Amino acid sequence: MKASDLTLLARAEVRGLASYNAGLSSDAVRKRFGLTRIAKLGSNENPLGPAPAVAVAMAKACADIALYPDASCQALRDALSHKLAVPGDHLVFGNGSEDLLSIISRVFLDHDDEVVTVVPSFGLHFIYPLATGAHVIGVPMTASGAFDVAAMIAAITPRTRLLMFSCPSNPVGCTLNGDELQQLLDALPAHCLLVFDEAYYEYAQYERGYPDCLSLIQACGKPFVLLRTFSKAYSLAGLRIGYGIVSDPALADLIDRLRTPFNVNRIAQAAAVAALADDAHLQATLEHVARERQRMVAELQVLGVDCVPSMANFLFFNTAFNAETVNQSLLRQGVILKPWREAGYTDYLRVSVGSREDNDLFLQALANALVEQQTRSA
Ligand SMILES: Cc1ncc(COP(=O)(O)O)c(C=O)c1O
Repeated sequence: MKASDLTLLARAEVRGLASYNAGLSSDAVRKRFGLTRIAKLGSNENPLGPAPAVAVAMAKACADIALYPDASCQALRDALSHKLAVPGDHLVFGNGSEDLLSIISRVFLDHDDEVVTVVPSFGLHFIYPLATGAHVIGVPMTASGAFDVAAMIAAITPRTRLLMFSCPSNPVGCTLNGDELQQLLDALPAHCLLVFDEAYYEYAQYERGYPDCLSLIQACGKPFVLLRTFSKAYSLAGLRIGYGIVSDPALADLIDRLRTPFNVNRIAQAAAVAALADDAHLQATLEHVARERQRMVAELQVLGVDCVPSMANFLFFNTAFNAETVNQSLLRQGVILKPWREAGYTDYLRVSVGSREDNDLFLQALANALVEQQTRSA
C-alpha cells in the first residue's frame, strides 16, 4: 500500500495535521556534522540538572519497578497540596503537562467547537484541539510582542469552549500583567474553560510585574485548569511529569476519565517529590537563568539583535533572515535552537538559556551565521 493510501486510513483531522517540531537530539547533530561539542538550546531544558536528592529518590523507586505506580500520585499530591495550599482533589497529573493538554482537548472539545489561543504559540495548543475537529483561532501578539488582550476577548464567541495559552508565553517570553489577566477573566463566558499554561511559572514568579496568576484565577470563580510542569525549572524533562490545578474536583474527575490510569510512572512520581523539597536548588536555577538571560540579551544587542523582554528561560528574536537557513548554519557549528515555523515568525529563532559555556557557543555561532547571511545577501 502506498503511503498516500495509508493516510486515508486516518481521520480527516489527523490527515491535515502538521507534526510537532520536537527538534534534533544532540546525538543526531553530532553524527550528522561530525562534531564533538554540542550546545542543546532548543527545548528550554535546565542546564543545572535536577536537585541532588532526585537521583537518590529515583534509585529507591527502582526497587519497586515490578509494581504499577500509584495511579492517584498520592505522595506527590500531598506534597503539592501543602506547597500550593490547594486541596488535593483540585490536582491532576500527567505524563508531562503535554499529556494533560491532550486529555483536556479530548474531554472538552467536540467537532466545530472553537478554541482561542495566541500566535506565536506552543505547537500543542494547536495540534491537540485540531485533532478533535475543533477550530483554533490564533490571536496574533502585538507588534511589540505583547498579548493583545482586547483581540483575545473579541475572538471569544458562543462556540468558544477553551481559552488556552501559555503565560509566560512560549515562545515570546512575555506575560500578562495583573490588570490584563483580570480583564480576560472578567470577559470569560460560562461556556468557556480557561486553560492557563504556566509551564514557565517558576522562572517568572519573582520577576517584577508578574502577577500571582493562580490567586487571581482562583478568585474569579470561573472554571479553569492551570497547568505546570516539572520539566523546566525542576529539570525533570526526561521523566515526563506535569500537573494541573483545577477550579473544582468535578473537573479533575472529568480529566481522570480519559487519562490512562497509570500515566505517571513510579520513578517520575518519586523524583518530583524529591525535586519539590529542594528549594535551594530551585533558587540556584532561577538565579542562574536570570543572570545569563540578562547577559545574553546584552550580547545579542551587540550583534544588532533585539529580543522581547522574557520572564522565562528562553529568548525569542528576529534574525532578519530566514530562520531555517540561519538554523542550518548554527547546526553545522553544533548549536541546536528552535527555528519558528508559524506564518509571520519564520525569521525568528528561540534560544534557551543554557550553561554559560553553551550560551557563549551560541553567541559566537550566531555571530558567524549572521555574517554568513549578510555576505550572501550583499
Ligand atoms: C508552554 C508549554 N506548555 C507545555 C509544555 C509541555 O511540557 P511537559 O510536557 O514537558 O510538561 C511545554 C514544553 O515545552 C511548554 O513550553
